[in-house]
Amino acid sequence: MDIERLVEDFRSNFPILQSSVYRKPLVYLDSAATAQKPLQVLEYEKSLYTTYNANIHRGVHYLSEQMTSIYEQARKTVARFIGAKEEAEVIFTAGATASLNLVAYSWSEAFLRAGDVVLVSQMEHHSNIVPWQLAAERRGAVVRAIPITDSGEIDMISYERMLQYGVKMVAITQASNTLGTRPDLKAMIALAHRHGAKVTVDGCQGVVHGGVDVLDLDCDFYAFSGHKLYAPTGIGVLYGKRELLDAMPPYMGGGDMVDKVTFEGTTYAPLPLKFEAGTANFVGAATLAKAIDFLAGYRDLIEYEDTLLRYATERLLSIEGLKIYGTAEDKSPIVCFNVEGCNHYDIGMILDKMGIAIRTGHHCAEPVMDRFSVTGMCRASFAMYNTKSEIDTLVSGVDRAVKMLR
Ligand code: ALA
Repeated sequence: MDIERLVEDFRSNFPILQSSVYRKPLVYLDSAATAQKPLQVLEYEKSLYTTYNANIHRGVHYLSEQMTSIYEQARKTVARFIGAKEEAEVIFTAGATASLNLVAYSWSEAFLRAGDVVLVSQMEHHSNIVPWQLAAERRGAVVRAIPITDSGEIDMISYERMLQYGVKMVAITQASNTLGTRPDLKAMIALAHRHGAKVTVDGCQGVVHGGVDVLDLDCDFYAFSGHKLYAPTGIGVLYGKRELLDAMPPYMGGGDMVDKVTFEGTTYAPLPLKFEAGTANFVGAATLAKAIDFLAGYRDLIEYEDTLLRYATERLLSIEGLKIYGTAEDKSPIVCFNVEGCNHYDIGMILDKMGIAIRTGHHCAEPVMDRFSVTGMCRASFAMYNTKSEIDTLVSGVDRAVKMLR
């Protein structure tokens, strides 16, 4: 199938993309905030509730056993998808933020000491900054920011220098949610390991645009959300190397994560359940696996996203006074911009009335705004269901908005 037909085929699975807002056809350019959900995933979710709904790991009855097996099968699918050595290294969580809080808390309890340093990059979103600040405060450690260059790339010289001063953890994004930059993770991880530091990769924006191979990267932890990967909200994943997860204390206590509970003391379940207290989002995990299976049929579209990014970049730059933030060669399909003399929020509001959904503001990445001395940016983010003609609509919409605002 040629690419255009494959895009059309992919797009046809998303009913919301056929809808209108304010009587204008919806142009959805906010997939970095959350991706739309294909019918196959939504129907599967409904069928799980109507056919197998029962709590997992608890019942001897048929439905519970069926759902438990679907849940554990989902773990296998995720482990295969990210290239984990074993499925016990895959922890289901409520989302990437929950995953990052889990690792920041539990790993720090076991390994972070007073005076140690955690490095986060200046391009991280808040979910990969604040949990580390909380952990550092608790443990008497320090969080330092790896600077980024004017093009929105990691300043590798500073990074290497900073690694020499007591760094125990590097927390870094696979792709920036504002600048789009994809740091050279392999090089960064190898350097961190050479200096005795562990690495947590935030895969929120990266996993959906080409996936990941955690063994090849050799990251110690990897976090992502389902909802940005065409699955429903409320499900996420934390991958961790077994030897680290085994040495970490549980994050939350409750049912399912225990071995034996007495008032004299409690022992914990082995991986992965040690980190899955309470009733897990078993339907979420199953639908995440369904989304992963669904995407496997469209791998050829990954490069197409790059075509969309390049097309959007070129077309947007034709607007006078428009500045794009993040000009790295290797970017995920995200374009953040401002237009001279116009407020980002006003542009977003006007585009909305034209049926065009973009995100405006600081994008939960205030340090990036500070780095570029702005209070906010407009962000258009693309997915495999977007088309060049939607980008044309965006560009003429921005053009019109700018004329109105000036
Ligand atoms: N982190 C999400 C975004 O970038 C919500 O929009």
